[in-house]
Amino acid sequence: MRKDIVVWGLCLLFACSCTENDKKAEQSETSGISSTATVSTNTKEGSQLFNTCVACHGQNAEGNQSLGAPSLVNQDDWYLIRQLENFKSGIRGADPSDVQGTQMATMAKLLDSPDKVKAVVSHIKSLAPSSTTKTIEGDPKAGKQYYSMICGACHSEGAIGNEALNAPKLVGTDDWYLHKQYKNFADGIRGSHPEDTFGSQMQMMSTSLPDEEALLNVIAYIKSLEQ
Ligand code: HEC
Ligand code: HEC
Repeated sequence: MRKDIVVWGLCLLFACSCTENDKKAEQSETSGISSTATVSTNTKEGSQLFNTCVACHGQNAEGNQSLGAPSLVNQDDWYLIRQLENFKSGIRGADPSDVQGTQMATMAKLLDSPDKVKAVVSHIKSLAPSSTTKTIEGDPKAGKQYYSMICGACHSEGAIGNEALNAPKLVGTDDWYLHKQYKNFADGIRGSHPEDTFGSQMQMMSTSLPDEEALLNVIAYIKSLEQ
């Protein structure tokens, strides 16, 4: 550890006369993370930290429905980082009736520095994206209409998300998890914390679909975009 600091200190001192190898290492550390990554992180640390996540989210961050743990591998880094920080600070997962959110909050607190959060997310983003299993039946055609009318304004066409509006990617997220989170917002389990600026925006939208059927249709539509 101390050696690293000395090496970096020397690099700075000599206005980055770092060796080619150092530069390459730095590049490979950031290459797995999408364009919004801000800090180069230590991928070795990230993969070690990720060992504590595997039991629930799986070796390839593919998720595990029976544990309520979603796939993480297809999600954008900026959103994963924000959710982990929200779990840590009690903005998310602190509601007593949010059983699974509480479990996750306990895990997030193990990442006790912003660098650890970034390192583990960097590791997740270095894994190969994978498709999710279809678990919800609905009418994608009917869902498309609602999606375009309501959800698309923030989550974008194709449900790819919109960082400028803080709205995450929905395509590539498990259908059962989308269903559960929409319900959590609607029930006030998620998005009610006074500091949850973005969660409260989504909570307002969680009453916009008329009924359960419309929700299932919208989710079936989002799932159909994965192919
Ligand atoms: C004990 C099981 C368990 C472990 C271990 C665990 N998680 Fe989770 N995680 C969950 C559950 C359950 C949820 C869903 C919470 C909910 O329903 O709101 C979740 C949700 C998340 C989310 C939110 C995703 C989203 O789109 O909303 C992120 C990010 C996350 N976990 C990252 C991690 C990371 C990183 C680790 C390792 C440091 C980890 N988890 C360890 C169970 C776990
Ligand atoms: C006004 C903008 C806006 C609209 C419209 C909107 N959302 Fe969202 N949505 C958000 C934001 C912002 C978040 C992130 C909340 C957070 O950071 O916790 C979000 C989060 C979500 C999540 C949680 C995803 C996850 O992985 O944790 C789901 C599910 C979701 N939205 C579904 C929908 C659906 C379905 C619709 C249409 C009926 C919709 N949203 C309409 C802004 C919006």
